[in-house]
Amino acid sequence: MFSLSLLCLFASLNALVRAQGSELLKLYAPTIGSKCPDITQNPLLREFTTGTQALHPNESAYIDTRESTVISKAWQDWLGTGEQIGYNVSVLSSNFSRVGIAFSGGGYRAAQYSAGVTSALDARDQSAKSVGTGGLLQVASYISGLSGGSWFTGSLYFNDFVTIPDLVYGDGNDRNGWLLDLELFLPGGFDVFDDKNTFFFQSVLASVVAKASTGIDTSITDVWSRMLSYHFFNQTTRANFFTDDTSHGAGQLWSNLPRSSMFQGFNVPVPLIVFDSRPSGTKTNGYTPLDVPVYEVSPFEMGSWDPNVSAMVNLTYVGTHLSNGKPDNDTACVTGFDEAGFIIGTSSSLFSIILDKGQTTLSGLKEQDSAGLDHLVSMFLNSIETRADDVANWPSPFNGVKSNTYIDTNTSWLELIDGGLNLENIPLGPLLVNSRNVDFILAVDGSADTSDSWPNGTSPINTNLRLNTILSSSHQKLPPIPATPNDFVSMGLNLRPTLFGCDPTSTSNPEYPLVLYLPNAPPLTGAKPVTNTDTFKLSYSSRHTHLFLDQVHTNTIGGFKPNTNSPDPDWPKCLQCAAVDRGRMKLSPVVPRSEFCTTCFKKYCYDPANPSSVSQLPNRVLKFQDPDGSFFQQHKAAIIGGSVGGALFFLIVFGACCFFSKKARKNRKRGKYTRVASDHETHPLTMSK
Ligand SMILES: *[C@@H]1O[C@H](CO)[C@@H](O)[C@H](O)[C@H]1NC(C)=O
Ligand SMILES: *[C@@H]1O[C@H](CO)[C@@H](O)[C@H](O)[C@H]1NC(C)=O
Ligand SMILES: *[C@@H]1O[C@H](CO)[C@@H](O)[C@H](O)[C@H]1NC(C)=O
Ligand SMILES: *[C@@H]1O[C@H](CO)[C@@H](O)[C@H](O)[C@H]1NC(C)=O
Ligand SMILES: *[C@@H]1O[C@H](CO)[C@@H](O)[C@H](O)[C@H]1NC(C)=O
Ligand SMILES: *[C@@H]1O[C@H](CO)[C@@H](O)[C@H](O)[C@H]1NC(C)=O
Ligand SMILES: *[C@@H]1O[C@H](CO)[C@@H](O)[C@H](O)[C@H]1NC(C)=O
Ligand SMILES: *[C@@H]1O[C@H](CO)[C@@H](O)[C@H](O)[C@H]1NC(C)=O
Ligand SMILES: *[C@@H]1O[C@H](CO)[C@@H](O)[C@H](O)[C@H]1NC(C)=O
Repeated sequence: MFSLSLLCLFASLNALVRAQGSELLKLYAPTIGSKCPDITQNPLLREFTTGTQALHPNESAYIDTRESTVISKAWQDWLGTGEQIGYNVSVLSSNFSRVGIAFSGGGYRAAQYSAGVTSALDARDQSAKSVGTGGLLQVASYISGLSGGSWFTGSLYFNDFVTIPDLVYGDGNDRNGWLLDLELFLPGGFDVFDDKNTFFFQSVLASVVAKASTGIDTSITDVWSRMLSYHFFNQTTRANFFTDDTSHGAGQLWSNLPRSSMFQGFNVPVPLIVFDSRPSGTKTNGYTPLDVPVYEVSPFEMGSWDPNVSAMVNLTYVGTHLSNGKPDNDTACVTGFDEAGFIIGTSSSLFSIILDKGQTTLSGLKEQDSAGLDHLVSMFLNSIETRADDVANWPSPFNGVKSNTYIDTNTSWLELIDGGLNLENIPLGPLLVNSRNVDFILAVDGSADTSDSWPNGTSPINTNLRLNTILSSSHQKLPPIPATPNDFVSMGLNLRPTLFGCDPTSTSNPEYPLVLYLPNAPPLTGAKPVTNTDTFKLSYSSRHTHLFLDQVHTNTIGGFKPNTNSPDPDWPKCLQCAAVDRGRMKLSPVVPRSEFCTTCFKKYCYDPANPSSVSQLPNRVLKFQDPDGSFFQQHKAAIIGGSVGGALFFLIVFGACCFFSKKARKNRKRGKYTRVASDHETHPLTMSK
């Protein structure tokens, strides 16, 4: 038997000592007690209504300059004269479409799917450039990401927007790639008591304790955020993984993006990350209803475009509690809360569905594991009543906002959670905000909906519902889509690229944007798929990652040719047709759709009157093929059990540690430490090793 309370105490003491010795790890701690800016001159809070909705002035200035300089040139580079698709680019160029790309959630699977798709749209990629799909990335004004899609997005932006091979595999110089073969929770191997793992846990814990020491509530999401940072941000190599030689991505702030050279040169789209929320006091577990506020983070601000909220706070000062837009006093400001790791950790904070009592099953976890977990979790939750340890805790800057309609108007701490927990797993919302005026959206869907872990349209269907019921005054609509996941599946729309919204009734002022749906799908060639992995698969061999990205790349440049296992040679040009289509409509006089593009739209557009069928997609293999072969197959149960079970177990211990160290610190002040210690003793958390 091994007493967890001892382990925990030991780990947190060690961690505290190390944290004090390690300036680098303190970088994760926000700065509290900062002098607040003069809010009479520059308010920190921006509140509006759907009628007065407007972009942050820095965002609109950035988009305008980027479009008129960098993007207009990128269109020319991509399309050339335009002759190949039946247009004259000099004519089109007075009004190109505004493009946004949305990357869905789904853990490492979604992050790799996003990377593979991006490589196929990148003009810097040789094969994508030569077939003609490469170039769409360069004309994008926005990129949105959620959960696993936010890991990819965050990684791309905090690695200077390098090419996908450099980002994922490393560039042989400063960038070391994602190191996905080092398991997320147990990078030192499946023995949780291994020395390397212990060093790793202690470093992670030290940075979280440093944050907790400022008096700001921490939670398991902070531990999670730090672990993700080892993979997705710079400063971590195979050689320093288990050391404190660098800060492993701590201290990198989302609000610093506008000062980076990529922003100063207007070279990148504006990134937007999505969070869902759990209204304070509701304590719901499981999925979040669609009427609960959804938040986003841009490089400038954080807030919600939902009509009942319509408020944004200056991102530099996020973490500061504001009441009616005012800080508690002149020196109550917090900076450095918007850690890049904490942003992507919040967007993927699933713990409200994992850690709630009676809700300990998660897809991918074997029953025997969940039984043991159930036991641990219930002991954990019973022994310490945490306020909200299963969410990301954000001090609310929105106290007093919309007191008649905003559900968290009286709340001082926001409880933020995984952006896909309302079942909108593709972050389309931010791209549909009225004032953003996005014309063409790529919906990159790496969800695992079907029994073989392919998407089935659940996400756009839920987005459609939310748009029609809650966001009808603040956001653009989605074009017509099939009504049910069954329809998506029977029409085969979840297995190949499809355009939605090709023929709006008004061409001068289309009632919705054009949407290209790009689902994670089996290889069009009929080869066995390696990309429909489990959301909770927390390590990938380097071989698997290479095969994964290659399959996605090949499918994304291949398009869809009915009744064959061949790529569509016209697809890259059809993609160009789709990209320019809304821009063409904005010209006066409207340029008619070219003959070539009309043929493309016949092939790729969803037509409710004449739906396609899954039978047009012959020989697709739906069942996952593990490329790591028989060793992994044979040991899979043990490895998955060890990994996911051990991992969650450690998260729980860590959560408890952080909670204890914070509580101990608070109570030491209040002289209550002994009582807590004895409470703790009466609920010994034990497990056999
Ligand atoms: C926003 O724009 C103003 C005016 O150009 C500039 O002074 C300020 O630094 C910008 N802030 C950010 C965060 O980009
Ligand atoms: C394309 O449009 C420009 C500007 O209207 C015109 O000068 C040029 O001749 C056109 N090119 C072709 C090939 O029609
Ligand atoms: C890591 O990235 C940050 C933010 O982009 C940058 O400031 C820093 O110089 C980079 N560090 C290394 C070692 O590359
Ligand atoms: C945030 O506030 C600071 C201080 O007023 C200001 O310099 C900065 O430009 C603001 N940032 C944004 C994005 O508004
Ligand atoms: C200012 O507000 C902070 C946070 O509420 C509080 O901790 C601090 O004591 C206050 N300072 C003063 C001088 O009132
Ligand atoms: C917005 O507020 C109104 C008024 O309280 C309420 O009726 C409505 O249900 C709220 N909508 C959402 C989506 O919460
Ligand atoms: C917020 O508190 C005020 C005053 O106590 C109360 O009137 C109001 O109903 C509360 N609003 C919500 C949404 O709980
Ligand atoms: C679609 O996916 C959802 C999960 O996102 C699942 O509950 C449902 O059964 C699936 N339906 C079909 C027809 O695959
Ligand atoms: C481009 O489109 C916008 C929106 O429809 C319109 O306001 C603007 O006048 C157009 N510009 C040109 C040069 O046609």
